[in-house]
Amino acid sequence: MSCKAKIAVLVSGGGTNLQALINAQNKGIIESGEIKLVISNNSNAYALERAKKAGIDTAVVLKKDFASQLEFEEKIIEKLSEYNIDLIVLAGFMSILSESFTSRYSNRIINVHPSLIPSFCGKGFYGLKVHEEALKKGVKVTGATVHFVNEIPDGGKIILQKAVNIREDDTPETLQKRVMRLAEWKILPAAVEQVSKRIIG
Ligand code: GAR
Repeated sequence: MSCKAKIAVLVSGGGTNLQALINAQNKGIIESGEIKLVISNNSNAYALERAKKAGIDTAVVLKKDFASQLEFEEKIIEKLSEYNIDLIVLAGFMSILSESFTSRYSNRIINVHPSLIPSFCGKGFYGLKVHEEALKKGVKVTGATVHFVNEIPDGGKIILQKAVNIREDDTPETLQKRVMRLAEWKILPAAVEQVSKRIIG
């Protein structure tokens, strides 16, 4: 029996956070868990290519193929069960999961969010929008947060955070890239290792 936590990563887009997890696994930064499955709700997500290149199984589950959120989530659960997944990582997964899903995997779902929660988070705050709002507000420091996922969007217990300074000449795009490079790609692998270790411990 494997003594590593079995990890599924849920994605929707480019998958740079997924790549950071794959790299961390290869470097041994993540040693208590292993990515077994990548699930995307977007068939064009480049994250799927990254998974395939790394030899990780993939699944595409599209909301439009199901009559309800419940049925969409049932399909995801079916996949997670097939692989006996212990830990679910939302890495740029742009769909809010229902309470029936999050309560089923209590303390077993983590998410990376591109701000210092509780700033610029919750429903409607995702991707580039978060950085646009931070710049509009004129904050001088932003960052990223990894947290457990519960029924409140971006409302679960915080695991790790890292601050990033905002520059005078930042655009949403330059800020997004810097927050990813200096914060997200570092704290997500660290949090995955921390939680995986606890799961197998
Ligand atoms: C990341 O910045 C992630 O924090 C954000 O989307 C981007 C996905 O990039 N997630 C959210 O906004 C969730 N609320 P990636 O596909 O390259 O990892």
